[in-house]
Amino acid sequence: MPRPSHRFQSLPPYPLAHVPLKKRALIARGIDVIDLGAGDADLPAPPAAIDALNRALEIPAMHRYGFGLGHFPFREAISAWMQRRFGLAFDPTTEVIPLLGSKEGIAHLALAYLEKGDVAIVPEPGYLVYTGGTLLSEATPYAYPLRPRTNFLIDLDEIPEDVLRRTKLLYLNYPNNPTAAVAPRDYLADVVRRCRDRDILLVYDNAYSELAYDGYVPPSIFEIEGAREVAIEFHSLSKTYNMTGWRQGWAVGNPTVVGALARLKTFVDTGSFMAIQAAGAAALESWAEFVPKNVAVFQERRDAAVAAFREAGFACESPKGAMYLWIPLPEGVSSDEFATRLMEDGGVIVLPGASFGAGGEGFFRVSFIVPPERMREAAHRAGRVLASLQVSA
Ligand SMILES: Cc1ncc(COP(=O)(O)O)c(C=O)c1O
Repeated sequence: MPRPSHRFQSLPPYPLAHVPLKKRALIARGIDVIDLGAGDADLPAPPAAIDALNRALEIPAMHRYGFGLGHFPFREAISAWMQRRFGLAFDPTTEVIPLLGSKEGIAHLALAYLEKGDVAIVPEPGYLVYTGGTLLSEATPYAYPLRPRTNFLIDLDEIPEDVLRRTKLLYLNYPNNPTAAVAPRDYLADVVRRCRDRDILLVYDNAYSELAYDGYVPPSIFEIEGAREVAIEFHSLSKTYNMTGWRQGWAVGNPTVVGALARLKTFVDTGSFMAIQAAGAAALESWAEFVPKNVAVFQERRDAAVAAFREAGFACESPKGAMYLWIPLPEGVSSDEFATRLMEDGGVIVLPGASFGAGGEGFFRVSFIVPPERMREAAHRAGRVLASLQVSA
């Protein structure tokens, strides 16, 4: 067998890749597993999406190739959704692109813009696909550590000039995975201005735009003046509509950047199943009936999780967005060791901060993907495991 490429070999381990197998093994041992690992809720998809899928399945034309254009009403529904939600107009043909989940588009965009010698600034901890896309393009990721010191924001002033000079892409994601931080508008305005000055493409990952609490309403980057010249924004049906497995997302932006991604994708895929695109359109159109109630469920889980983890001895903030708690560990307890012990001794799956890059060390991530009583049970077990680790230290 030939050796895999250097590009391939440079990929780090993917944080969730080993979890399903480990979970199976624990269940096979009769352990009552509470899985707080992936951002993948146990909640149902919108009934409107399921009805639309059933209807679309009966139509033979839906079973044919979608190609890049896809089921055009899905593009129109995306455009209408962006208008309703953010007051922004995007042409459904040239400024919208449906994706096989936003992950796919985020990974592939890098191949259209990066090459050897280029730099992409990636948040660390962060969604590892930013690093993956960069490495697969043979460019160099510059990991900026997201820490409480900067409210988990990237401070471009701290990045060396020689790195900025080679930077072509900047990945930002707020509400953030995994830290659950949100970005103030003036911060976003400053970043847009700097990207314009330096000719950097701002890749704004807005997968959690709808999961926000206590009255906070996350913006689109395109609400910021000048962003159309420098940014592309990614969205997903996964978290908002409990449709992670359906693999439906989209990007919006100016025709040049959206067109580049569309052209790249003509060599990679032939569009998602059009019946699923029809269902995606129905989900988007059901925002008002579905999303506020769904967010209320997440908010209840967040409140239960925050209270329970605090009671179990952890210091944690109550996040304004996303579906995670990013919980600090006491000095000297490694996140890998804690997560491994919690899984093996407590049957609770959480993600160690270090699995999101070295900058995530000292924290672990909990997802609000189970009901409050299971959350409380998980926190209780986590407290026990932490106490045992501190005794043995
Ligand atoms: C920050 C972020 N972006 C994008 C995605 C990808 O979502 P999907 O590919 O399901 O649309 C995720 C999923 O966890 C995420 O956390």
